[in-house]
Amino acid sequence: MTRHFLRDDSITPAEQAEILDLAERLKKDRFSEKPLEGPQTVAVIFDKSSTRTRVSFAVGIADLGGSPLIITTASSQLGGKETPADTARVLERQVSAIVWRTYAQSGLEQMADNSRVPVVNALSDDFHPCQLLADLLTIREHKGSTQGLTMSFFGDGESNMGHSYVLAGAMAGMHVRVASPEGYQPRADVIADARAIAEQTGGSVTITSDIAAAAEGSDVMITDTWVSMGKEEEKARRLADLGPYKVTADLMKRAASDAIFMHCLPADRGYEVDADVIDGEQSVIWDEAENRLHAQKALLVWLLRQQ
Ligand code: CP
Ligand code: NVA
Repeated sequence: MTRHFLRDDSITPAEQAEILDLAERLKKDRFSEKPLEGPQTVAVIFDKSSTRTRVSFAVGIADLGGSPLIITTASSQLGGKETPADTARVLERQVSAIVWRTYAQSGLEQMADNSRVPVVNALSDDFHPCQLLADLLTIREHKGSTQGLTMSFFGDGESNMGHSYVLAGAMAGMHVRVASPEGYQPRADVIADARAIAEQTGGSVTITSDIAAAAEGSDVMITDTWVSMGKEEEKARRLADLGPYKVTADLMKRAASDAIFMHCLPADRGYEVDADVIDGEQSVIWDEAENRLHAQKALLVWLLRQQ
C-alpha cells in the first residue's frame, strides 16, 4: 500500500528514527542515493508562499536524480477550480511523488486517498511534519539524541508548528512543553494522540500558560510566528494576545545553560523572539534551515522504497 506523509504520526516512531538515520547518512554523503534517476518527476505544489520548502525540495529532488516540477496554485487548476481528487488522478500517472503546501488538511487527505504515489504535506494549516524531521535532525546533531530531552515551544500552540512539535516530539521520546495562552493551545485531539504515543516512547506532553515553568531547565527552546499564513486578518488580536509569550534573553536564562534555540523561519524579530536570542550564540536556526534538505531527501527515499 502506498505510504503518505500527511502528519507527523503518518509514520511510526521506529520509522521516524529510520528516516533520521538516513538523513544523517545523506548529509555526509549527499549524492549517494539516486532513486529518481531517469529523471523521474516530483510535483511540488504551493498554495502558500515559501522559500525554504521550495528550495530544499527542488534541490533535494535534483540530488536524488529527479526533476522537480514546481506548481503554484494561481497558475494551475487547483484552488477551487479542480478538486484535489481529480488532480491526484492526473498527477499519479506522470509523477513519482506529490508534495503539497496547502491550507486544509482535508485537501491533503483527498489527494492521498486518490493517489498511488506518495503524497507529502509540505505545510498545512494543521501540521508541518517535514519541518519536524529537519528539527529533530538538528537536535540530534547538537545534543547527540532526542530521547529524554525537554523541548519547549512558546506562542501559538494551535498551529501547524505547535501541533507538529507535540506529535513528532512525543514520537522522538521527548518531553514536550507548550506554553500558550487560552485560545491558542494545541487541539485536544492532537494532544491526546501525542500523549498516547508518549506512553510508548517514554516522552510526555505538558500544556501550560506559564512561560517560566515551560522554560525551566529546558534543552530546546522554540517559537514560531504569531501570524501564520492565512491568519493575517487576526494580526492585531494575535500580537496583543501572544505578546507575553515572546522568547527573550531572560527567558533563555531559565533554560539549561547549554539549551539551543530553534525557529522554523521566517521570523519576526522583536515579536515572537528578540534579535539577541535568534541571532545569538545558542541559536541553531541556519543548521535547522539546511537540514530541511537532508531530512526531506531521506523522507523521499524512504517513501519510494515502500512503493
Ligand atoms: N520553514 C518553512 O517552511 O519556510 P518556508 O515557508 O520559507 O518554506
Ligand atoms: N506557522 C507558520 C510556519 C511557516 C513556515 C505559517 O504557517 O505561516
